[in-house]
Amino acid sequence: MRKSSIYLPEELKQSLARVATGTGRSEADLIRHAIERFITVAMPTAPPASAGTAISSPRPALIGVGVGPGDPGLLTGRARATLLAADRVFVITTDPRSVGRAEMVVRAATPAALLERLPFAIASDPASRERSLRAVADAVEAALAAAELVAVALLGDPCQWSIFPELAAIVRAERPGVPILAEPGITSYQAAASDAVVPLGRPGAAIVVLGDVAELAERLSATDDAVILYKATTDGATLKVLAAEHDRDGTLVAELSGLPGQRIVALGDAADGPISYLATVIFPGRRRVGIDTSR
Ligand SMILES: C[S@@+](CC[C@H](N)C(=O)[O-])C[C@H]1O[C@@H](n2cnc3c(N)ncnc32)[C@H](O)[C@@H]1O
Repeated sequence: MRKSSIYLPEELKQSLARVATGTGRSEADLIRHAIERFITVAMPTAPPASAGTAISSPRPALIGVGVGPGDPGLLTGRARATLLAADRVFVITTDPRSVGRAEMVVRAATPAALLERLPFAIASDPASRERSLRAVADAVEAALAAAELVAVALLGDPCQWSIFPELAAIVRAERPGVPILAEPGITSYQAAASDAVVPLGRPGAAIVVLGDVAELAERLSATDDAVILYKATTDGATLKVLAAEHDRDGTLVAELSGLPGQRIVALGDAADGPISYLATVIFPGRRRVGIDTSR
């Protein structure tokens, strides 16, 4: 324990003395409590003291780490501990010169992590995609060859709409002895549904996550399921027509969930123009008469 002196103005001293007398606590105890509270509020994402020691992984190993939709507060404790324990944290980016969103979360939540950007061609032709996946695998395998604990940080969950499962398949085939793990992450639709308190899956209505508007009409008409649309492949006007045709009142557009400037609006209030890449559209499940939806 380290001692430090602080000078308090007379008025504050008197108030402190009054609270100490009133509560039966010592002034030192109250000051310590006030500082702890201040630190918790000012740094809500500060890792717990044990966070860096919670993971004991063999080396080498590959771990896909879900970092949530953007708010460092939505990173799980285990994900944070893994990022801190890793010898290297790869972040996938479309442009090696810019800081991607996964990198922003990692930097905010675990500034001490050793980061390295890996470019990946998200929306290009299959051959370029294959080439960039190969380059990612080569970089990861080089770190594994150096017996490192390698983390790959991915937005949301590492096993959903991400390159991690493909990367894991390559590494599994080429380095069969290396343990491959994943730490789950909160997805943008989970964060948005919680913010707006809208139901996702429930009895009689499962949940489907699509990455292409071409499949949307069929899903909305064939089932009562809640449907999530990722990836900005359409515009607001098209979605409004589909929601009306398929009786999906309560459809929401969540943009920049967990990030500065986040916005969750009813689809009817969204612009008719293009839906941005970092938006998630939630079509709630349709209720059917006679099905217990109370759970
Ligand atoms: C490649 S997918 C990433 C999915 C991620 N692995 C997951 O589990 O959610 C990218 C899509 O996720 C959605 N998304 C990711 N982060 C988001 C955020 N902060 N706000 C809204 N949508 C987001 C957008 O639809 C975006 O086009």
